[in-house]
Amino acid sequence: MKIAVLSDPHIGSTNPVFVPNWEKVVAHVNTRKDISLAVVLGDLTLFGSEREEDLLFGRNALEALNPPCLVLPGNHDVGDIARESHQPSNAERLSLWETQYGPSQWHSDVLAGWRLIGLNSQIIGTGLPEETAQWQAFDEALATRGTRKAVLFTHMPLFLNSWEEVDRPAWALMTEGRNRLRRLIVDHDIRAVVTGHMHRTAQIDLPETRLIWCAASSFLTYDHSMPSQPGEALLGVTILTLSNAEISAEFIAFDGLMISHIEDYNGTIYRSPAKE
Ligand SMILES: [Fe+2]
Ligand SMILES: [Fe+2]
Repeated sequence: MKIAVLSDPHIGSTNPVFVPNWEKVVAHVNTRKDISLAVVLGDLTLFGSEREEDLLFGRNALEALNPPCLVLPGNHDVGDIARESHQPSNAERLSLWETQYGPSQWHSDVLAGWRLIGLNSQIIGTGLPEETAQWQAFDEALATRGTRKAVLFTHMPLFLNSWEEVDRPAWALMTEGRNRLRRLIVDHDIRAVVTGHMHRTAQIDLPETRLIWCAASSFLTYDHSMPSQPGEALLGVTILTLSNAEISAEFIAFDGLMISHIEDYNGTIYRSPAKE
């Protein structure tokens, strides 16, 4: 069984520069006969956290995908984890997202033997009431999975380099939520944690689980403007293969994608990455 993960498309009506790449990734997925499910792993939009029209644009763009599709929000869609951000995730932003896409967390048993669980990373560590509700739903999804193996999808990574690293809420989950997830990963033998946000690919085996960083379809970043991080710069699509025992990832780059780095736009599309 295979899942196509489309991450960080960053499409929108007000700036369509990454739309052609999205269309090529969708075309690739649609021509394959071996894909059972698509997961859009957040940052579907460029400015959805600020402009409702981008949320609508992204929602309409999903219609082009042939496989059934599950969608999670990212920071560009519902705002940031950091409360001091100019666009923090909040009830209003979450409501606008859910109006178009449905619940920002979910679980699905559509693939036999597996429970796929999607969490909204943008509320983890915020203290919002929606975060409390999400932890309860997550506990429930884990407790009721029966013999199904669990795999977790969420936009932001658990960490860049280690469980113990300092909090950098622009880049990864913060300590309290990360540690809570770590306990649940171990207690429930979660087989993999599949994330986007870094615009970089990696498959990292830890004693606790397997981390899979998925390819963006939109843009890359230069190493010199990023914090230290693992993985490889690759634009494209990620194909997950689910066997009886595990999940593995294949990162596919294909001809025709526009390869660009966000720094090259000099802030005309979006600000360059914050190194820390
Ligand atoms: Fe992104
Ligand atoms: Fe992101």
